[in-house]
Amino acid sequence: MSRILIVETKNKTGESVELFGWVHGRRDHGKIIFIDLRDRSGVVQVVFTPQDKEQYKIAETLRSEWVLKITGKVAKRPETMVNEEIETGKIEIQPESLEVLNSATTPPFALDTDGREIGEEHRMKYRYLDLRRERMAKNMALRHRVAKFIRDFLDKEGFLEIETPIMTKSTPEGARDYVVPSRLYPGKFYALPQSPQQYKQLLMVAGIEKYFQIARCFRDEDTRGDRQPEFTQMDLEMSFVEREDIMAINEELLIKIVETLMPDKKIQEKPFPRLSYKEAMEKYGMDRPDLREHPDDPNLLAFCWVIDFPFFEKTDAGEWIPNEAEARSVPSRPRTGWTFTHNPFSAPKPEHMEWLMEKKNIGEILTTQYDVILNGFEIGGGSIRNHQAEALKKVFEILGLEEEIITRNFGHMLEAFGYGAPPHGGIAWGLDRLVALLADEPNIREVIAFPKTGDARDLMMNSPSELEEKQLKELHLQIKK
Ligand code: AMO
Repeated sequence: MSRILIVETKNKTGESVELFGWVHGRRDHGKIIFIDLRDRSGVVQVVFTPQDKEQYKIAETLRSEWVLKITGKVAKRPETMVNEEIETGKIEIQPESLEVLNSATTPPFALDTDGREIGEEHRMKYRYLDLRRERMAKNMALRHRVAKFIRDFLDKEGFLEIETPIMTKSTPEGARDYVVPSRLYPGKFYALPQSPQQYKQLLMVAGIEKYFQIARCFRDEDTRGDRQPEFTQMDLEMSFVEREDIMAINEELLIKIVETLMPDKKIQEKPFPRLSYKEAMEKYGMDRPDLREHPDDPNLLAFCWVIDFPFFEKTDAGEWIPNEAEARSVPSRPRTGWTFTHNPFSAPKPEHMEWLMEKKNIGEILTTQYDVILNGFEIGGGSIRNHQAEALKKVFEILGLEEEIITRNFGHMLEAFGYGAPPHGGIAWGLDRLVALLADEPNIREVIAFPKTGDARDLMMNSPSELEEKQLKELHLQIKK
């Protein structure tokens, strides 16, 4: 005999089967012991009676979460004993052999609930147990199916999935970087990417034309329900396209994901409505409006695009950059009074290119940026890029970066664009946010296997943690007490 999954037992009445799994629960009724056995596919009831002498003796010792191998006969349950709540509720297992593969310490919390009643600290410390609960297992499976759907769809469309470095250099995405000290170069640091933005544009220069990646991104900002220090983007870039092309393929992919994987969900409006930033602000007072007509309906998905954002906005110098040193280390937050609203690599709308090149009407220049919103959450954003070095340079000049800083931070991009960069553009989705919304989860932590807590810690691994003195020394680091 070889193992079958628990869910398959429902079609095997009368047959002998071999099952592996965990003790999900145990109930004793008089002399009869009922064990709910759980594997990744579901739960089935196993019934031990005193007649099965040897197994019965072992069954008496079984506790929650012990690991078992059971062979037994699949028997139809009496009509009155049918449990409609579980998929295998019409049958039960009459054991022929029982082997304990491992015992288990009593779990610190219940695993047969949805877990919402348990404090986060507890759940995160024992995440490997928390993930055993049905809700979490379902969320992990949904996340996998969404990622696989994306990969299959984009593969058919001719995209290549290409990995880009995790150890890289600071990119001006607007948040603080996580940095990695270099052992070989004292005083120098790698930065973890806030997004693969520069690499994907360089892949366009490299002639890839259609790139995507399910990419890990890192941003040292305050954690919230929809924000993690480490999160995942579905990142995409294409050459020889215009704004409409990128919006079209993304809209098609989003619709297909919902209609294929979540048939119970209803998309409120197709094609997705579009709002200009101005309209959104005037009508809803925010640039990520929740357009749901019935916000209480969990199966309603209201997508929309927000477009025509201003490229630059005025910033109060002192607010961002208190001193010269920081101005140099954070080139995206200069002191001149203009900052970018989304992405410094974006192109302006074609009709405003002249203003950019002449550096006039700066506050009125609109960018090609498009954000995709779902039920009031920004689930993605992107733009057509400036593929000509002179135009990109104008952006940095408007941001007030000195020649030397432009060269130091972006020289490689400007140089690359000089070698025949094709017109290109792209987008990145917050994959965690999309999956959380599809799973009706209020928090992206519920769809990430090992997320950080609200205060950016990993309680299971105990990070961040201190380093050994020897490691610090090797890295040329000294901790100020
Ligand atoms: P942006 O910074 O808008 O664009 O990020 C894209 C999408 O990523 C999600 N997101 C996050 N999700 C969880 N935790 C976070 N801390 C977090 N930060 C962002 C959001 C957001 O819409 N390189 C550009 C994309 C491009 O222009 O192609 C970028 O990163 O859903």
